[in-house]
Amino acid sequence: MKNTHQNIHHWYKKHGRHDLPWRRTNDAYHIYLSEVMLQQTQVKTVLERYYFPFLKKFPTLKDLGNAPLDDVLKMWEGLGYYNRAKNLHKTAGLVKTLPTEIDELITLPGIGLNTAHAVATFAYKKPVPIMEANVKRILCRLEKLKTPKDKELWEIAYKLVDKENPFDYNQAMMDIGSSVCTPKNPHCEECPLSDVCKGKDEPTLYPIKKKRVVPTREQNIMISLYNDKLSLTQRKGKFLHGLWGFPSIEVPLCASEYIGEITHIYTHFKSISKVYVYDELDCEQEHYFSTEEIRKLAISKIDEKIVKLYLDTIQRY
Ligand code: ADE
Repeated sequence: MKNTHQNIHHWYKKHGRHDLPWRRTNDAYHIYLSEVMLQQTQVKTVLERYYFPFLKKFPTLKDLGNAPLDDVLKMWEGLGYYNRAKNLHKTAGLVKTLPTEIDELITLPGIGLNTAHAVATFAYKKPVPIMEANVKRILCRLEKLKTPKDKELWEIAYKLVDKENPFDYNQAMMDIGSSVCTPKNPHCEECPLSDVCKGKDEPTLYPIKKKRVVPTREQNIMISLYNDKLSLTQRKGKFLHGLWGFPSIEVPLCASEYIGEITHIYTHFKSISKVYVYDELDCEQEHYFSTEEIRKLAISKIDEKIVKLYLDTIQRY
């Protein structure tokens, strides 16, 4: 094991992404924020558009906890999976500093086992492993596992973690997973774990990828216009709660005009929205906004596409 740890350590020194800002800080809040942003989003996107502006607006956990949720959602706009932002905000309202122990971390909103382990090891240097998607793939190949249970993977991860240098080890595992032990065409000849990897002859057999068929949901969207302003409502349901958006309707109003459809793919379903414009005052709508004003609201990707479709349509006339 010592040999493997040394190989991983050398590999990381030479090839690791040492300049990622969340790897150059001890601030538990900054590390926690990066982990939450990176849960469903690529490093490049987080780095280029979200991490720094968010920290500029909310420099401390306290600032985040004291901020209105609308402001937090606005900084999250476009990142998707808005529950992540809501849970961050809730957690910030609950604690002054993030706890150091995994048992306590996982009691906080939105902090699951992996995020708790990541905060514990990256912020507090605890000798524990992490379990993000790249790491899972490495472990499956190491042990030739096609359909492992999480419990089994955690057991392997705990046995393998370098307890003397957990920070570098865990960061390295993610980098090895994303650049060497890749889903397709892995570069086993460059891998610091190849000596101990049981699956290296046919790595792509592990793990088996589940093919997911996502359902399609269709909806009719209505833009009510009044004095060149567009009606939006703040969402109250579970999905996209708190974000502003165009209302969906069962049946388009007779006098409305169809302007086109937009599609958007979420992880669990594909959404098709048929968009109608109703150019008369609709008494059921309470809030009308100019396109300038809409820019200041937190809206979803779908609603952003709807605004664009609307603007493209009126430009054509
Ligand atoms: N994904 C989750 N945590 C990460 C980290 N610390 N560095 C790069 N990608 C990550």
